[in-house]
Amino acid sequence: MLDIHNFDKFAEMETPFYFYDIGLFERTADKLAALSVTYDIGVHYAIKANSEERLLRMLSERGFGADCVSANEAVQASKCGFAPASIMLAGVGKTDKEIRTSLEVGIGCFNVESIPEMDAIDGIAGGMGVKAPVALRINPNIDPHTHKYITTGLEENKFGISRFEFDAALEKLRSCRNLEFKGLLFHIGSQITDVENVFGLESRCGRELVSWFEEHGLKVENVDFGGGLGVDYEDPDGSPVADFETWMKALRSCFPVGEGYKLHIEPGRAIVAQCGSLITRVVYVKKGRTKNFVIVDAGMNDLIRPALYGAYHKVENLSASYLRGDDTKDCAYDVVGPICESSDVWGEGRILRQTCRGDLMAIRTAGAYGRTMASRYNMRDLAPAVYSDEI
Ligand code: LLP
Repeated sequence: MLDIHNFDKFAEMETPFYFYDIGLFERTADKLAALSVTYDIGVHYAIKANSEERLLRMLSERGFGADCVSANEAVQASKCGFAPASIMLAGVGKTDKEIRTSLEVGIGCFNVESIPEMDAIDGIAGGMGVKAPVALRINPNIDPHTHKYITTGLEENKFGISRFEFDAALEKLRSCRNLEFKGLLFHIGSQITDVENVFGLESRCGRELVSWFEEHGLKVENVDFGGGLGVDYEDPDGSPVADFETWMKALRSCFPVGEGYKLHIEPGRAIVAQCGSLITRVVYVKKGRTKNFVIVDAGMNDLIRPALYGAYHKVENLSASYLRGDDTKDCAYDVVGPICESSDVWGEGRILRQTCRGDLMAIRTAGAYGRTMASRYNMRDLAPAVYSDEI
């Protein structure tokens, strides 16, 4: 297995590129697969985090399902070996075309986010002479204490169905002849690090909500807790495999094994984040009056998280200690990209080994929401994916 710190293989390669550590990815997926059996929780990988075909195939081979948010993702999932019945489709704006395509693929569940959406799915399924399996996405109104842009389970969000709409949702469900009710979905946000407390609360709220729907005459077969498990952006090498077990234990706290409900989760970030790094080269080191800039060839178009959310990604100089020995001194730098936007910044005042033009740098924990959110802004090429066992 290739370690990113053993960078000599990178020296001749064109930058920037996404580097995926396949060994770490496999270890992560295997660990999750084993725990999924122990805790009897079905895993549906959230494809939006990273939709590389190779990674998808490795996950489908392990028996995971897929959580999708567009018909294109559902088609990609089925192409990459996910069983249609294990594919779910969420999203607040499913179009008629997407609903039709998903019914043709034969997906296992539409995670319905609003009452008008039930009408749309019911009508299209009826026209095709099929029944559409649906789960209601419910807002449990839990604050996950994460960035406001990635909080999704609060009452005032555009996602899911809130308490004040429950009666109307039930009535609608009863009147739709082509919908088959499968269960409930909760997803409260992403990059949640207070795992025991927040997911323990999700389990308690989930329990109450399941009881409410059952008391009102619906049989809840599936309970899906969504994704959201956070990873360690500060210290990627300290905890390379996410703590899936604490997460599962917390979710199981109010749903003991063997009770009859089928539990599901939809992790994205926790499966792929740590195995990916964005590898970039220093184009210039520019001395300012009060600070020094390291200008690299990867920009916010390659990985938008710092510019969009103010997200922290660890930046490492891979060349300094390797080429110039471990005695190079540390300096403070503002590490920036080449894009003509002042938010194109990887980090301010980062303490790095003394850096020179041509040095290789790694922007760590970039496997999730990196390449899938990349754009061609400034007409830049998309950074390719490179796998550790292919170089
Ligand atoms: N299920 C649903 C319904 C979701 O909306 C999401 C993510 C997931 C599962 C997967 O969540 P994860 O396990 O990855 O936290 N672009 C942002 C993250 C947006 C997450 C959107 N929904 C970022 O880069 O932090």
